[in-house]
Amino acid sequence: MSGSEIEVAVGGLDDLDDPGCREFRIGEGDWPFRGFVVRQGDDVCAYQNYCVHAGHPLNWRPDSFLTPDGSQIICSSHGAVYDIKSGVCVAGPCPGKKLRALTVEIRDGSVVVRVPMKRQAPRNT
Ligand code: FES
Repeated sequence: MSGSEIEVAVGGLDDLDDPGCREFRIGEGDWPFRGFVVRQGDDVCAYQNYCVHAGHPLNWRPDSFLTPDGSQIICSSHGAVYDIKSGVCVAGPCPGKKLRALTVEIRDGSVVVRVPMKRQAPRNT
């Protein structure tokens, strides 16, 4: 693990719906870091909860990040749709731009995400 990252245990893999999501937040004051994990089968991806269209959090309801059929990530603000595995916007107002991916692993059945220790400007690529 890089010295500029910390690990966040998001919960047990078996506690996630399939497909399903769980959001997390760490830090306070001017540095809250918001992220979420997405389970699809045995695969888990993690992203910063920051829509690359206008910088809003992607969800309005807790742990709600997916399209109704559970096949893609959708932003609740203006409907940007992102591929779950790549984080690339495939429809909506910011096609081709990418969510910021986080390193995630399953360790002893728990989902563990690495997040930066310092505030970083979200990438808008
Ligand atoms: S802020 Fe997400 S689609 Fe506009």
